[in-house]
Amino acid sequence: MSLLKYNLENLFSDDVQALVRHESGFDFKEAKSRFESFTQDASASIYSGYREDLLKSSDLSELKACAEKLQKLADVLVVCGIGGSSLGAQSVLSALGKSSKVLFLDNLDSFHFERSFAQLDLGRTALLIISKSGGTIESMVNAARVMDLYKTSGIDFKERTVAVTTDGAGSLYSWAQENNLDSFYIPQLVGGRFSLMTPAGLLPLAFADVNIDYFLAGARQELNAPEPQLWPLAKRLNELEVAGMGVLTLWPYASVLFDWGRWFQQLWGESLGKRAKNGVGVGSFPAACVGANDQHSLLQFLIEGSPRCVSMFVCLKSWEGAEDWMVSLPKSFHSKLGFSQGRKYSEILNAEAKATQGALSEVGRPSFELLVEKLDETNLGALYAHAMDLTVACGALKEINPFDQPGVEIGKKILPSVLES
Ligand code: PA5
Repeated sequence: MSLLKYNLENLFSDDVQALVRHESGFDFKEAKSRFESFTQDASASIYSGYREDLLKSSDLSELKACAEKLQKLADVLVVCGIGGSSLGAQSVLSALGKSSKVLFLDNLDSFHFERSFAQLDLGRTALLIISKSGGTIESMVNAARVMDLYKTSGIDFKERTVAVTTDGAGSLYSWAQENNLDSFYIPQLVGGRFSLMTPAGLLPLAFADVNIDYFLAGARQELNAPEPQLWPLAKRLNELEVAGMGVLTLWPYASVLFDWGRWFQQLWGESLGKRAKNGVGVGSFPAACVGANDQHSLLQFLIEGSPRCVSMFVCLKSWEGAEDWMVSLPKSFHSKLGFSQGRKYSEILNAEAKATQGALSEVGRPSFELLVEKLDETNLGALYAHAMDLTVACGALKEINPFDQPGVEIGKKILPSVLES
């Protein structure tokens, strides 16, 4: 059974039905068989192995041994990777409160680089370079900069550097071989943004003491028995997009899940923002928000501004693991806020999520809620796996390829000439 639970009431209300006007002719049966071909038929022209790779239980002993070896020689793991080679692990560590052991260098930002290293004992760091293509400029340049620091400080990089890339291809692979570095591989048929459950995500997680067995178990549970509303939701989201609602705002109601929103933002945007068969651009633009903060920032727009947004809420049923303070307000605060007296901290935040959904519903704006049981490895595994399935299901309904990203190549081609000019 799925660990997740949707409430789609506000997506199927009369007001939202009126926005959609008529239910579009998306064919579930066809889309489901397309989904199956996308995820089960390796010989199909559009295919990703993210499901198959994850469902077959692989031996993680080497990966765990490598994480342990790195832990012995380093307090902080510096990860050079970007996009799908960074955001997944970054977001899981934020959610679990384990970010302090891993430094992610994704952008080429000298301020961030220098300030981060100023806090570190270089001799107690290790370096993990993650790039499926093995040639992404930001990742390789950052890795070279870290190695330059090692060299200047007389630290041998070889014993403390690990590569995660594609087996047998790319400059990172060749360089790691030449230097005899420990290496792990992202399966060829698993795309970057779907690679969280490969060594690209699992190695940094294991280094930070995340229980990756539980994480994978949660993901597998979800893939084996998806949340039952996956397809009705995918269909409704596509209908709303066709009806002109071209923005999907993501509202985890927990600061520690904001990075999950950034991960999902990439997954959704890069997978679904495509040219459809008729050449027309499709996809809803994903916007990572966070509750309750963005009630004081973006909610006004969602209630009264351009009516183009659908809002996804992600709430925690239980805040087990957090000290949940019982609100105790000074008397003078009672006139306005007395209703919160004696309530739990988390109870107020969850009520704010409900109130925001209520407000959107009152003005006929579509929203839906995904309830996560609690913040632990197993439930997070389910959440991430589900987000991948939902994205691919939407792609199957749109008849686009959710696994490529041809649009991002144009800028990469222009870049050398910009530097030369
Ligand atoms: O989803 C994708 O394929 C991209 O976001 C990549 O993850 C990102 O561009 C990094 O690529 P690479 O892992 O090849 O360095």
